[in-house]
Amino acid sequence: MRSVNCTYYLLFVLAIFGTSGRAADKPHSGIERRTFGKMADGKTIDLYTLTNSRGMRVAITNYGGVVVSIAVPDRKGTFADVVLGFDNLEGYQGKQPYFGALVGRYANRIGNARFKLHGVEYKLPANNGPNSLHGGLQGFDKQVWTAREIAGMQPTLELTYLSKDGEEGYPGNLRAKVVYSLSEDNALRIDYTAMTDKDTVVNLTNHSYFNLAGEGNGDILKHEITINADRFTPIDSTLIPTGELRNVDGTPFDFRKPAPIGARIDADDEQIKFGKGYDHNFVLNRSGAGLSLAARVTDPESGRALEVLTTQPGLQFYTGNFLDGSVRGKSGKAYGRRSAFCLETQHFPDSPNKPSFPSAALEPGETFRESTVYRFSTSK
Ligand code: BGC
Repeated sequence: MRSVNCTYYLLFVLAIFGTSGRAADKPHSGIERRTFGKMADGKTIDLYTLTNSRGMRVAITNYGGVVVSIAVPDRKGTFADVVLGFDNLEGYQGKQPYFGALVGRYANRIGNARFKLHGVEYKLPANNGPNSLHGGLQGFDKQVWTAREIAGMQPTLELTYLSKDGEEGYPGNLRAKVVYSLSEDNALRIDYTAMTDKDTVVNLTNHSYFNLAGEGNGDILKHEITINADRFTPIDSTLIPTGELRNVDGTPFDFRKPAPIGARIDADDEQIKFGKGYDHNFVLNRSGAGLSLAARVTDPESGRALEVLTTQPGLQFYTGNFLDGSVRGKSGKAYGRRSAFCLETQHFPDSPNKPSFPSAALEPGETFRESTVYRFSTSK
């Protein structure tokens, strides 16, 4: 009897101290909020850090809905921040190429900065040669979103923004909602919804710049990429799609089998020259609706891997060709040419002027609904 009691006592002690000891070592899953900076009008901007119990951390600010950092382990368990960006609000307010931002109302380019919808022409700010890029001069990436932490099983942050009728030339009051959530299997999920009160066009994406070796740690040319696309949309010299859906067969755009990003990035190819590397929309293969695998990237050196799943029809693969070392990021390192890649899930560029592309129009009573998952893991 005595020894039984002793055993129970021991088990009791182990249960209390043993597990609480482990619990203290284990990262705490949840959301933490801190002040990130202040807008000129005094409005406070916050930084929300989502953590899962495996220690993956994603920091997001309500300024532009920007993903500020993503910390994930390599194959040895060493964490690194794998997205380019800044550690302060001012960095994002300065001249920089949409690091981590939520891009809208229309992500990517609209040709000649205009489009017609039901016979009415809308003029947009031309901020990229003759074209309108990423929602204009004050796109969604430069707006203050309203943030709300959502209680539930996994750390979840909801961001909402009302884009007023006529803002940056677009018709209709658009209520946009973006929900970021972090799962236990190291996946950052982004759910986008939007509703309008007038016919309009919508294309929402996230513009994270990834470097799986860690931000600021050289170029991404040795990373290997697979893109689940048989076709891409060739562009003209101003990066507007011609309307053709071209087969990737025999071109530098065939990533149906894994290939180093750098293998054909300077190929003697008109499309590569127009993009100064890869800056093209891929027509994603899919079988049915729902999330499907769009791309996978691995860094052979660190073993970090990223998979992108999406409901969207297109994927802009951009290899940071316009980064030129003039911007210094979080760790003080200069971000040189091709020091990151972007995988922007999206509707095709210039869809409002290309009736043959999947429609990006949204009418009152409809809900725009798209989701994308960035899932991290490691390979041997
Ligand atoms: C575009 C690039 C552009 C970059 C930053 C990408 O989505 O395709 O051409 O330089 O965004 O604006």
